[in-house]
Amino acid sequence: MAGAFPRPPDQGHGPVSWTDEEQARIEEICARYPTRKSATLPVLWMAQRKWGWLSYDVMKLVAETLGQPPSEVYAVATFYTMLKKQPTGTYLIQVCHTLSCQLVGAEEIIAHLKKKLGIEEGETTPDGMFTLMRVECLASCGSGPMMQIDDDYYEQLTPDAIDAIIDGLRSGQPLPLPRPEVNKWTFRSLES
Ligand code: FES
Repeated sequence: MAGAFPRPPDQGHGPVSWTDEEQARIEEICARYPTRKSATLPVLWMAQRKWGWLSYDVMKLVAETLGQPPSEVYAVATFYTMLKKQPTGTYLIQVCHTLSCQLVGAEEIIAHLKKKLGIEEGETTPDGMFTLMRVECLASCGSGPMMQIDDDYYEQLTPDAIDAIIDGLRSGQPLPLPRPEVNKWTFRSLES
């Protein structure tokens, strides 16, 4: 469907397309809903999995795929912080700063991460490894303070726990699994 985004893209992926397998998967997803528009979120999520973030090029492809105006897809994508509208570092760290986490030390956790990483909120470390963001409630209100790194939740955080995670990643270790005694679920576990 023809249409334009509210402002021209200043960066993007260039021409993008789905593979035949991905297109078939999208049709499977669309079949679960009464309208193709209802599949906007899962298809945006699929696109983010493939391209890492949602440039205008990618959002336009999603709009064309679902027969929606690009502005509709843009509106959905910009509403959710889980959908990335710009490239991030290898690891995206999102710290909840909403009330329950505030009461148990979210600001201290954010301050510690800023110092540890040497960046401000919204910035990426010069080596491209970490991006730090503060976000609204991540639905883990009983286990704060907490942060999400990529798809996993790290709860009941302390400065020492943060240091262990960041130092491990910096030394080349993989992202650790969240502590099983605290963790309730992760996107990783849902997809396995
Ligand atoms: S208030 Fe932090 S997860 Fe809900």
